[in-house]
Amino acid sequence: MNLTPFYKQNYEQRLAMLKEKLGLTDVDEALITGKTATLGNQTIENYLMDFSIPEGVAVNFKINGKEKVVPMATEEPSVIAAASNGAKIIAAGGGIQASTTERLMMGQVLMANVQKPVQLTQRLLQYKPEILQTANDAHPSIVKRGGGAKKIRVRKLAHQFISLDIFIDTKEAMGANMINAMLEAVAKLLKVKLGQTSLMAILSNLADECLATATCRIPVKVLTTKQLNGKEVAQRIVLASEAAQVDPYRAATHNKGIMNGIDVVVMASGNDWRAIESSVHAYAARDGHYRGLSCWQIENDFLIGNLTLPLPVGFVGGSIKLNQKAQLNHRILQVSTAKELEEVLVSVGLAQNLAALKALVSEGIQRGHMHLQAKSLLLSVGATTAELADAQAKLESAPVIDQQTARQILKELRGENNE
Ligand code: MEV
Repeated sequence: MNLTPFYKQNYEQRLAMLKEKLGLTDVDEALITGKTATLGNQTIENYLMDFSIPEGVAVNFKINGKEKVVPMATEEPSVIAAASNGAKIIAAGGGIQASTTERLMMGQVLMANVQKPVQLTQRLLQYKPEILQTANDAHPSIVKRGGGAKKIRVRKLAHQFISLDIFIDTKEAMGANMINAMLEAVAKLLKVKLGQTSLMAILSNLADECLATATCRIPVKVLTTKQLNGKEVAQRIVLASEAAQVDPYRAATHNKGIMNGIDVVVMASGNDWRAIESSVHAYAARDGHYRGLSCWQIENDFLIGNLTLPLPVGFVGGSIKLNQKAQLNHRILQVSTAKELEEVLVSVGLAQNLAALKALVSEGIQRGHMHLQAKSLLLSVGATTAELADAQAKLESAPVIDQQTARQILKELRGENNE
């Protein structure tokens, strides 16, 4: 199927080409064009349609003394319920305290096959003023706003690589384009002034100088469940956090739970969630061993939670500005800076982690999941809204919750059981 020159066509032409080549119907076309074509067409290449993900809000968050409603774009059932539940437990202890470091992003000019690394390192360090000036000249508007390239570092790596690291204050932006433009300008400077070629010039997603921290202090009695007293639950949560420090297999799942909350707010805020994912997981392995990102401890009768993560998000920037829903979500969140957004994100991660660990070490994760799971299963086998309430109650108490049981329950409700 030859669709070239597909990228040169406008939206209507691309759609017409697809319709013809793939035999799409008018109904297909209506489905595709039902959403606004403009934003997608401005944002990516070869735009076809909007692929929507449901958005809901998590509640009960109290961050630095302020109550927050948190928009989450997610297809995963239970994430919003768990975040709200974790936030409620934490709010009982006064809520979450969140803070951020300075927001410095880092980019690298990477040089390969360096024969005299000590000499090159010295020359690069001597060139620091010119390097910073060249970087800043490549993006003067950020300097006017008080940001720009602030410092450099030179690292000698294995296999004869040298990395010139440039740290950049991108203010309210995530700043990927800005950073890359600065780095490419520096790479040219090195070629012209030092005769030094580079392999590549690109930002690093391991933003370990753009960190956010959330802490909380929960009276253990708030954690009491039907089977366990609050202290026992707290002790088991501490063990769960220790297990994620020593076992990368457990750490991966532990951190996935944290990112269940963070990614979906990153998405709702119009940010690049892949950048945050790579940043966070690289940070989790920063001492050479992949570990859980949160830490839970008991002090007297309080469970103390702590989570620190790199969160190189932006509050402004091309696609964020264009995305009206992201703008609306900023208003729902009542944040007006990137640092405030970071504070919400890290707090959501902590609440999500608490909810997951508490469920895992007490009643298990399935009970909470099964309510929504049962509903999705019934809908997937054709239950109507009128049938749902009865069918869901039956399915949830069935020994096996799967599609076959869901079908069987519907048949029974419809009196079709005797075929
Ligand atoms: C499921 O999406 C997330 C959990 O597996 C997280 C965890 O195990 O900590 C429940």
